[in-house]
Formats: sequence, structure tokens, C-alpha cells
Amino acid sequence: MTTQQEAPPTGAPAQRACPDWLALRREADTEARDTGAHDLLLRLETALRRQGRGEVLVVDLGAGTGANHAYLAPRLPLEQRWVVVDHDADLLDAAHHGDALRVEAGVCDLAEVLAGLPVDDGPLLLTCAALLDVLPTHELGCLADAVEGLGAVALVSLSVTGDVTWSPADEDDALVGRLFDAHQRRGGRPGPDAVDLLATDLRARGLEVLSAPTPWRLDDRRPELLERWLDERVEAALEEAAGGERERVLAWQGRRRQQLRGDGVVAVVDHVDLLVLPATDGAAGSR
Ligand SMILES: C[S@@+](CC[C@H](N)C(=O)[O-])C[C@H]1O[C@@H](n2cnc3c(N)ncnc32)[C@H](O)[C@@H]1O
Repeated sequence: MTTQQEAPPTGAPAQRACPDWLALRREADTEARDTGAHDLLLRLETALRRQGRGEVLVVDLGAGTGANHAYLAPRLPLEQRWVVVDHDADLLDAAHHGDALRVEAGVCDLAEVLAGLPVDDGPLLLTCAALLDVLPTHELGCLADAVEGLGAVALVSLSVTGDVTWSPADEDDALVGRLFDAHQRRGGRPGPDAVDLLATDLRARGLEVLSAPTPWRLDDRRPELLERWLDERVEAALEEAAGGERERVLAWQGRRRQQLRGDGVVAVVDHVDLLVLPATDGAAGSR
């Protein structure tokens, strides 16, 4: 994830998502979701209608600057009221959040957040986008507990899987991928394994989990995004590199940059969307 490294004020997250990165990725996110997850959205709408009448309460976790809200709200033909949750208060200031209720809180505070809201028996959607790979294992557990405990429908979008396919291929793609994934897994985080872990946990709890591939296709249509993603991948990989790996990673970056400015390069970056349906697809769980 793109982060700002300056020291955060007390209580703020140690790693911060950069608003300009979140803006840069929006188009690619939209294309990936429109292409890969259209059927999941239809299933989502059906599931929410089955949950009951009235406004859908949509809770967006790790809402950042509001990309998930901007994407989902116009594609769900249902009355909605939004609550956007993030542990970074600065991101919640973004104008894109519109009239959503903004709550500064972490994933594990979700039960508390909802307890403070007028949650009735109407439909409840828990959602997040581009969040899972930054969460530690215990926070994935909090998310699963909330989905199960609330009997909510959940849409977990744009989780990276760690798979990247390059055209043309390069002999050091695998090295950079391994080092980048190691960086994602620092501090015991599941990183690219998070989406599988969450799906396995939810299925073990008896919930139905549907999935759809939502890969990014990064190419010369969005050179700025591709270059930024490339550079951030290298920066993370270099933090994990040992011995001669550093030179190889830098040489790889040089070759990729040359292709970016010359004959072109394409990176298909795998992501997965999950739709989680309550055990009885419509029962309101413990709400
Ligand atoms: C990659 S950004 C994605 C933002 C937004 N969902 C989007 O699609 O543009 C991840 C977001 O999750 C937030 N975040 C990370 N860990 C969190 C946690 N444990 N609790 C709440 N928010 C968290 C970050 O502050 C950041 O806004």
C-alpha cells in the first residue's frame, strides 16, 4: 500500500494511505470492478432485497477518501445511508464522503461503532475495498466476527492475491514479486494471503462466500499509475532485499521503466472481490 512516512500525531495510524495514490487508482479500480464483479453486484442487490425493506445501512471500512462509496452507491438501485469508517481522521475529511456519517475507528471497533448507530432490522451491508492486505490477522478475525455476528451481507472488494503477470516477462519478475510479498507480510501480516484466509474463515462459519476476479490491467492507458505502482513495488522490495538482490531489483526497475517509455509493458495485477451472504441468505442474524 502507498504510505506517507512522516511521523503521525499520537493516536493516528503509523502508516497512512496517500490521497493522491487513492485518486490515481480510482479509474483502474472502477474498470476492474465493472469488468469482473458485475454479477456479484446483481447477487448483492438480491441479497439486500431479501434482508428486508427500507434503507440499506452501508458501512464502509477503511473508507479512505471515499472511492468505494463513489463506486457502489450509483450501482445499487436501493435507498442507502452510508457510514464511512477509517482509522485515519485526515482521510475522513475528504469532500468525496458527501453526507455519509464519518467515524474515526478501526476494524476491531466495528461492533462499538454499530452499537452507536440506529441499526434496525433493515438491510445491512458491510463493505471495504483495497483493505484486506494491510490488516493483521486479528483484524481479519474482527471483520469475520462482525459479518457473522451481525448477519450482514458483505462485499469485500479489490483484495490483492500477490499474482502479477507481466508482458513482456522478465527473468527477475519472480524475485521482485517475492520480495514485495515479503514486505506485505512484514510483522506477521497475511498480506496477499488475507483474502483466502478470510474466505476460508467465513466458509468455516457456515457463510456462503462467492468470489470474482477483479484484476487491474496496467498499461499505456494509465502510464502515471503504472509508473507509480512500479516504483512503490520496487521501494517495498528493496526493503526486503539482501546481498546482490538490491542490484537486481534496481536493474529490473530500469528495464521496466525503459519499456514504459518505449515499446510498452503490461502488468495484470490480480485482485479478488468477495460477496458474503448470511447463512440463511436473508436472516438478520443477531440484529
Ligand atoms: C488502500 S486504502 C483504500 C481506501 C479506499 N477503500 C479505496 O478503495 O480507495 C486502505 C484504507 O484503509 C484504512 N485502514 C487501514 N487499516 C485500517 C484499520 N485497521 N481500521 C480502519 N481503517 C484502516 C487506511 O487508513 C486507508 O484509508
